[in-house]
Order: sequence, then structure tokens, then C-alpha cells
Amino acid sequence: MDQSWVASTMAAPNAAVTEMEKEDLPFLRDLWHTPEVMRYADEFPGLRHWSKASGIARAWDAYQKWRTELGSKYTQLIVRLPNGTPIGESFVAPLREGFTFGRWKKPSGVRAVMGDIKLVPAYWGRGLGTEAMRQVVRFVFIETDCELFVVPPHVSGNPAAVRVYEKAGFVPTFAKRKEGRREGGHRIMELRRTRFEELY
Ligand SMILES: CC(C)(COP(=O)(O)OP(=O)(O)OC[C@H]1O[C@@H](n2cnc3c(N)ncnc32)[C@H](O)[C@@H]1OP(=O)(O)O)[C@@H](O)C(=O)NCCC(=O)NCCS
Repeated sequence: MDQSWVASTMAAPNAAVTEMEKEDLPFLRDLWHTPEVMRYADEFPGLRHWSKASGIARAWDAYQKWRTELGSKYTQLIVRLPNGTPIGESFVAPLREGFTFGRWKKPSGVRAVMGDIKLVPAYWGRGLGTEAMRQVVRFVFIETDCELFVVPPHVSGNPAAVRVYEKAGFVPTFAKRKEGRREGGHRIMELRRTRFEELY
């Protein structure tokens, strides 16, 4: 795969995002078994078609099958340090017509993908999540014909994720939390190709 989308505007990247290799599966399984990481995050089993319960061989076969069928818009990505050490993951998958998430509905006729970002807790708070997410955004809009990229952070519980997505250009589809009023649950944030082209 042409990886010109990796850190294309950064002279000395601190993290690189590349497609998963089979050897990365044990790392993913461990990441998805880390309670801190998964507290407000999901494995997207419906979109991914395999999970941490699948076993390495089955997960790899399922990934290959769906990757071949769906192309780059279905890609498991790994976040790595410059020395290659895996420190996180991202996953993107296409949304079918009629797909809904809470009150959000995929706009009809618009090619859309959903994704997210997760890092090993030891690497949180250093800007790496933002740097990696920006590379995922470049990947989606350079390597696929996606028109709309959406992410589903937990609004009240996961402000770090909301902030990372904002910094990568995503726009909330929910009202900002008012002082003293609790707002719960996952909500969609959107990034359209037109905005990507303005920002990146
Ligand atoms: C979300 C996640 C990837 C962020 O990674 P990270 O490397 O810590 O992110 P960054 O350091 O690039 O940026 C974090 C931002 O959130 C802000 N932030 C962190 N905790 C916050 C809080 N409690 N309230 C408000 N803002 C907060 C930071 O200040 C920073 O913003 P700033 O640069 O404007 O100061 C990481 O926390 C993670 O892996 N979480 C578990 C998995 C997860 O929930 N993923 C999202 C699923 S939708």
C-alpha cells in the first residue's frame, strides 16, 4: 500500500500509523482486554466481523476476507512508535445505507466510514492520540473515496477522545454540555471531505 498519507506534514513524527500485520493481533487482543482503554470504547464487532474472542487464526482469516471484499475503507490500523513498537490502534469500516447510531442516521447516498483511536494508557497525554488520528484521517480521505468520516465518542465520560477528534477536524453533531446539566452516551462527530481538504 502507498503510505504517503503517513505523517505527510510532519518532519519528525512521534507516531506512525500503518496497516495491521498478522503479528500485531496479540497486541490488539491485549489492548482490548485493558479495562482503562475499553471503559468508553468499543471493538465495533458488527462493523469489524471479528473480535478479541475470535482467536488469532480466525481473526486474521476474517480480516483478510473482509479487507479483500471491502478494500481500504475497511482497514485495521496500528499506531507505532518510530522504532516500530505498537502503542495503539484505529479501525475504519464503511457504513451501509440506512445505518443509524442513536439518533444519528447516515446521510443517504453519502459514502461514509466509521472509526476510532485507542492507545496504551502509558502513552496518553503526550499528543500521540491527536498525531495518530490525523494520520488516520489522511488515510481515509487519501486511500478511499469516503465523503464522510464519523467517530462515536462517549461525550460525558471521554473528554480526551472528544478533544482529540476536534483537533483532528471532527465536528460534534451534539449540543455542547451546558453547565450543571448531565449529558450521557456516545454521540457521532463528523468530518466531511470538503473540510478535510480545507484543513489538511
Ligand atoms: C482518546 C485517547 C486516544 C487520547 O489519546 P492522547 O494521546 O491522550 O490524546 P492527546 O494527548 O493527543 O490529546 C488529549 C487531549 O484531551 C485533553 N484532555 C485529556 N483529559 C481531559 C479531560 N478529562 N477533560 C478535558 N480534556 C481532556 C487534553 O488536554 C488534550 O487536549 P489539548 O491538547 O487541547 O490540551 C486515549 O485517551 C485513549 O486511548 N483512550 C481509551 C480509548 C478510547 O476511549 N478511545 C476513543 C474511543 S471513541
